Amino acid sequence: MTATKGLEGIVAATSSISSIIDGVLTYRGINIDDLAVNASFEEVVYLLWYGKLPTQSELNELNQQLSDNAAIPAAVIDQIKLYPQDTNSMAALRTAISSLALYDAEAGDMSKEANIRKAIRLQAQLPTVVAAFSRIRNGQDPIAPKAGARIAENFLYMLTGKEPNEVAIKALDQALVLHADHELNASTFAARVTVATLSDIYSGVTSAIGALKGPLHGGANEAVMAMLEEIGTADKAASYINAKLENKEKIMGFGHRVYKNGDPRAKHLQKMSRELGKITGNLNWYEMSIQIEDMVTGQKGLKPNVDFYSASVYTSLEIPRDLFTPIFAISRVSGWTAHILEQYENNRLIRPRAEYIGPEHAVYVPITERK
Ligand code: ACO
Repeated sequence: MTATKGLEGIVAATSSISSIIDGVLTYRGINIDDLAVNASFEEVVYLLWYGKLPTQSELNELNQQLSDNAAIPAAVIDQIKLYPQDTNSMAALRTAISSLALYDAEAGDMSKEANIRKAIRLQAQLPTVVAAFSRIRNGQDPIAPKAGARIAENFLYMLTGKEPNEVAIKALDQALVLHADHELNASTFAARVTVATLSDIYSGVTSAIGALKGPLHGGANEAVMAMLEEIGTADKAASYINAKLENKEKIMGFGHRVYKNGDPRAKHLQKMSRELGKITGNLNWYEMSIQIEDMVTGQKGLKPNVDFYSASVYTSLEIPRDLFTPIFAISRVSGWTAHILEQYENNRLIRPRAEYIGPEHAVYVPITERK
């Protein structure tokens, strides 16, 4: 038995949800480029869960269900109030989503119908949890979801307490479309492994949030912004990046396990970054990002991934840096739950083997004889 480090190139599941073939990403066979410019996030959620684009009445029904389920239990808000002041935002999300299960009467119901209802609740409540956490740690009261508002609008409203403008709603909605699913990425794999034991959907999503948190996965968008802020202005980017590359340090937001000729999502976020920079009158982050891209691609052949331009996009939307990865989760919970439902449909325990490289033929030495 020989291990493949990081399971690179291993096909570990069949799935009909999203595909990456020859560098092209599709959701249910539809090119992400098409969806990014034409679809709303809720249409994509429907597509991922039900395998087809919704009719207008199906979309209206889903929007209603998401709106009806967006409030979170008062007990979960009370718990968030007890989190330490400096709690990491992804740790807070992981804990709060796990505790939502405690207040869901259907948490242990493994029927397909109940699992779909729980997927709706998770998608609806995750933005409310993130917004509530953000406000509570700032000493503000959480804001109840606005009836009838769609996810992007509602999230910005619950975060700031102000009616968001159309440009911000459209930008966030498009970012959510682009992040919704991505084949067997690390967090989705974690979710599938968890539920393949026939554990519940909340456990699967909690595992996924833990996996997304890491800087090699979803955590990279925050790390990109930390880097841009550390650099400060575009004129300092060259010396900063050169020093990092000379020290063989990774530049966050570049490289990908699957895409070797570029992440198809990055160009949409790059365009959004430029447009939002123009609207806000601050192109500093965009220009710095372009300069970094030129250097990293020129010197290392590495292309930006989905996280690179998300950083300047979210900053232009005045979203605090440590909410970038939770926003990724607001979108990706659609993909996680779609994969969880697919796993339950045709389940088998996921239990690979390990190549043993430890000592052989070791013997038990009584504690009194050990040195
Ligand atoms: N900056 C500099 N060098 C890099 C980078 C980078 N961002 N990414 C890869 N490399 C180099 C590695 O140092 C390695 O070089 P070597 O062969 O000389 O040692 C080579 O490219 C291969 O890199 P690995 O880390 O082995 O590639 P792997 O497929 O395991 O990792 C990953 C992919 C994790 C995305 C990696 O490119 C990385 O760490 N990028 C930065 C973090 C990041 O942006 N993560 C977000 C990914 S997208 C997402 O999850 C939403």
